[in-house]
Amino acid sequence: MTIAALRPISLCASALALFALLQPAAQAQTIALDVPYVPTPQPVVARMLEMANVGPDDYVVDLGSGDGRIAISAVKDRGAKAAYGIDLDPRRIDEAQANAKQAGVVDKVVFEQGDLFEKDIAEADVLTMYLLNTVNMRLRPVILDSLQPGTRVVSHAFSMGDWEPDRSDIVEGARIYLWVVPAKIAGSWVIERENERFTVDLDQHFQEISGTTEHQERLRGRLNGTELRFEVDGQLYVGQVEGDRIEPISATGAVADWRARRS
Ligand SMILES: C[S@@+](CC[C@H](N)C(=O)[O-])C[C@H]1O[C@@H](n2cnc3c(N)ncnc32)[C@H](O)[C@@H]1O
Repeated sequence: MTIAALRPISLCASALALFALLQPAAQAQTIALDVPYVPTPQPVVARMLEMANVGPDDYVVDLGSGDGRIAISAVKDRGAKAAYGIDLDPRRIDEAQANAKQAGVVDKVVFEQGDLFEKDIAEADVLTMYLLNTVNMRLRPVILDSLQPGTRVVSHAFSMGDWEPDRSDIVEGARIYLWVVPAKIAGSWVIERENERFTVDLDQHFQEISGTTEHQERLRGRLNGTELRFEVDGQLYVGQVEGDRIEPISATGAVADWRARRS
């Protein structure tokens, strides 16, 4: 994406992209940040956390946490059980800790100075980012491999290449992307239905599922975390992926009595 292409969406996005081009000069003067500090406007923070449906069961991790506003809002405004922010710049950590104190959330929010690429993010229920496309793309394999299926990932301004977002929105000129980490279901499955049983080979491209049954019928589907919806032979199947099994979920118009297991 070019800087010009970013301009109509967000000036902040353009500033960050420009930084990426000028990075060697910036590095000579200061800490070698992968992304400069530009805070997310508060209405955008609010919408990011709303799109991720942050609530009391969630541990929220903000990578490159700046003055801490996303982690602090997750706890203070959305009631998240805990939040964590990491930033390479110690000045940001000092600011974030002061802001957490002022907001009265120090018991639930931790800020740590460090490199976001070295942080183990596996425990996150919600991951938030305002970084750069290049940084998101470096994080993408870690997100897909180490986060639990169903984890929500929200990014201000920057996408993740050909991993299409599950939702997006624009607030105050800033685009917000939401992805739900999909379960991994590529491979061969046996589907059992009443007295019928057939195998299906599934291909997976992020949340998009396609496949062919042993009777050469085409299957098309989509994952929302661990929830799978697919159609085969004109019939809708909705199920919950539980490791090597898929159990049916009742849904209007969907086949009721079926299940699947890896073959
Ligand atoms: C665009 S700001 C976003 C701040 C905050 N998340 C927000 O949305 O308001 C990016 C932040 O990432 C931090 N950062 C840059 N490179 C980093 C790295 N490798 N590890 C951790 N933090 C980094 C910067 O110091 C900066 O505070």
